[in-house]
Amino acid sequence: MSLTIRPIESSDAESCGRIGYEAHKAISSIHGYPSEQPSEEYGIALVRTILGNPNSWGVLAEKQGRVLGSIFLHKFPPSPVAVIGPLTVHPSAEDAGVGRALMSAALGKAREQKQEQVRLVQSPSHIRSFVLYTKQGFTLREPLFLMHGQALAPNYKSDNVRLVLDDSDIPACNELCKSVHGFSREMELRQAKDQGVASVVERNGDLSGYAAGIGLFGHAVAKSNDDLKALIANAHAIVGPGFFVPARNRELLNWLFENGFRIAWPANLMTLGVYQEPLTPFLPSLAY
Ligand SMILES: CC(C)(COP(=O)(O)OP(=O)(O)OC[C@H]1O[C@@H](n2cnc3c(N)ncnc32)[C@H](O)[C@@H]1OP(=O)(O)O)[C@@H](O)C(=O)NCCC(=O)NCCS
Repeated sequence: MSLTIRPIESSDAESCGRIGYEAHKAISSIHGYPSEQPSEEYGIALVRTILGNPNSWGVLAEKQGRVLGSIFLHKFPPSPVAVIGPLTVHPSAEDAGVGRALMSAALGKAREQKQEQVRLVQSPSHIRSFVLYTKQGFTLREPLFLMHGQALAPNYKSDNVRLVLDDSDIPACNELCKSVHGFSREMELRQAKDQGVASVVERNGDLSGYAAGIGLFGHAVAKSNDDLKALIANAHAIVGPGFFVPARNRELLNWLFENGFRIAWPANLMTLGVYQEPLTPFLPSLAY
């Protein structure tokens, strides 16, 4: 009986969420890292949240009525980048090409949506996923670490960092993001603003960095490491288990270690299609 790839219905949330939890538990327990999906409830809630997002699309793989895995593709208009994740396959179904079939379906959907740039954050300790993505054309661009620690504010207080409270900062943030990455991430910035976690840093009266929250789903772009440090230091909360830092940014990592942060787990930013190498410091989100 062959593998069927079909859209995910709300009634599939439990089986897909459970597989997500099981798949991540299997890989993280081998390497002694905390799991990206800490409980079955987390996995199921994550799938339910994604199914309720009009900018997300997902399919599952099943054989003889048994769900074996699922994949999701997200868009963040007007950003041209499509993002894959989570992709999870039940550990008992490895070596059956399930991951490859799901990935092909998601890349087909991205092409259908005319999204030439596709990105994801990979777990580097997992050789299977690295091979799968590399064979599908993805390139490893940036090794990352998820940094875990306590928010540094209010011990730090910088007069040149402030919250984004209205739309007036958005054009300058978009311009900065475009100059660094080649596109803006306006939708995520607006969402962070609405949640009260978006901030900007200014130098000599000019915007020199912004953060769409400091946390798992936040990203940040800055002109210098000092600007990025100011954004991190003034964040009143770190949303979720931590935030991703490019492992090549030695200066920022050392500053975080000095301030009590610890590495929670490693990750890799992988991309398909055009990639503009950022020339100034940035923090990626769990998405890209
Ligand atoms: C990652 C995951 C989705 C892959 O699913 P899968 O069904 O096992 O993937 P596939 O079998 O289709 O592809 C894996 C490929 O790696 C190859 N492979 C595995 N180990 C390898 C190794 N050591 N060296 C080279 N190739 C290797 C397999 O042969 C296969 O390639 P092929 O299809 O050309 O033969 C699944 O293992 C999973 O859910 N893992 C836990 C969660 C996770 O890490 N998700 C991804 C987050 S980034």
